[in-house]
Amino acid sequence: MTSDWWADAAVYQIYPRSFADSGDDGLGDLRGVTSRVPYLSSLGIDAVWLSPFYPSALADGGYDVDDYRDVDPRLGTLDDFDEMVTALHSAGIRVIVDLVPNHTSDRHAWFTEALAAPKGSPARDRYVFRDGTGPDGASPPSDWQSIFGGSAWAQAPDGQWYLHMFAPEQPDLNWDNPEVRADFLTTLRFWADRGVDGFRIDVAHGLTKDLSEPLTPTAELPDLADADGSHPLWDRDEVHDIYAEWRRVFDEYDPPRMAVAEACVAPSRRHRYVGVDGLHQAFNFDLLEAAWDAEEFRARIDRQVAETESAGASATWVLSNHDVVRHATRYGLPGAEDNPRETAAAWLLSDGTEPPLDRDLGLRRARAATLLTLALPGSVYLYQGEELGLHEVGDLPTELIHDPEFRRSGGTRKGRDGCRVPIPWTSDGPSFGFSRGTPHLPQPEWFADYSVAAEDADPHSTLEIYRRALALRSKLRGRGFAWHDETRPQALHFVRPEGWDCITNFGSRPVPLPEGTILFASAPIDGRLLPPDTTVWFLSGETPT
Ligand code: GLC
Repeated sequence: MTSDWWADAAVYQIYPRSFADSGDDGLGDLRGVTSRVPYLSSLGIDAVWLSPFYPSALADGGYDVDDYRDVDPRLGTLDDFDEMVTALHSAGIRVIVDLVPNHTSDRHAWFTEALAAPKGSPARDRYVFRDGTGPDGASPPSDWQSIFGGSAWAQAPDGQWYLHMFAPEQPDLNWDNPEVRADFLTTLRFWADRGVDGFRIDVAHGLTKDLSEPLTPTAELPDLADADGSHPLWDRDEVHDIYAEWRRVFDEYDPPRMAVAEACVAPSRRHRYVGVDGLHQAFNFDLLEAAWDAEEFRARIDRQVAETESAGASATWVLSNHDVVRHATRYGLPGAEDNPRETAAAWLLSDGTEPPLDRDLGLRRARAATLLTLALPGSVYLYQGEELGLHEVGDLPTELIHDPEFRRSGGTRKGRDGCRVPIPWTSDGPSFGFSRGTPHLPQPEWFADYSVAAEDADPHSTLEIYRRALALRSKLRGRGFAWHDETRPQALHFVRPEGWDCITNFGSRPVPLPEGTILFASAPIDGRLLPPDTTVWFLSGETPT
């Protein structure tokens, strides 16, 4: 086993509550994951990343953690966790768990203790408590807004305020407190000792804060996009001291454990999270935000390749995850060539009716985009259900929406539940084989066409494309990468080691293919013409310089 396995891994994200339910409560669980190891194995992935499975009231889909060193009883036990890890490891699949260090849940023992303790007590110092402003301190300490909308401060029963950059049920921790630091080291060792191979660090750019008075009003906060470390809340340089300490813990293990940062920072500062005295990788969300446009893809790929080369790191490619509208849907909306994220957000608000979604076009482009990212140097993070070509569920009834973003934004953002609907395993039966009970989010009827069972039997299905592409990709070694500059407008052509070429046609006309043996394509190819919205891999024999 090489210790830098992650550098070119295909990692599959499991959102445990929506993956597979071994019981009948409609909530996916760890035994469900274990039962699907053969499926994961047949996909050809190198690792899974599990979103939080810890005890939680689910105020934010499990990213509100009550206890970092246990399993939510509805999802199983620590024994189930161990069994799952053993089964995955036996199949050669590594395990990454999600660590949520920016905030606990409001049901965490520390927060209960803090509320019961007086102002200025050591228990309150583990969080960020402040007196309010105005008469009787009845107004929040600052006008900061939480990411989900509304004030970032909530009032404790005794009138003090606590900071929550996300939902009020997610109080921010005070990372200047040594007890907080020590406790997370215990948590890292707890899971590393149980055999996990790595950690995904939630909101990695948020932990350290400059909360010296007076607190900077929102209007005077620097823009994170051109940040230089001076923002009081995000991406502060001191955060790297924490990761240096964590790295020493990761390196205590053989093989060393790895970590990938969710760092929503200016691209120019992303590399700071990565290095021999930091974490191993940082997510790059550039393509996930890109329009369906060759130039835009190319510029974003260039930036990531250059950035990771100069940092001596490896690239990460992401098209979908549990926080964004699925890429098949983003690319099937009329705004895809312009501003897919905004168009998708508006589409969700219209209950998935406006603008009209072209499902076939979206899926065709999604397959092409996936093949493109699978050919790039570095690792790729896939999100459960994308291998089935699943679309976002756009018409979830608002009364069933769990995501705090919906209510806290006053209904102006519908939230992320549409990509978290339990995945279909069969085309019929209760909840399409997900559970014997009622799924925690309702599945639409069209899921029947996208089920694992339906696609398993179809050689042209998205699932089959992922399987074949992942199998081929595992043979592609080395980091070399170069653009082939005879690229036609609206087509991107790059060369990888051993003369492995990849061309994606983003345009609306077919593009003639250069000489070479076709290895694989995201859609059928007729003769030597690459159809629109298609990616092809072929062997040209050229080598990147
Ligand atoms: C990350 C997670 C997201 C969660 C937030 C707060 O961005 O990916 O799902 O809501 O952190 O923990």
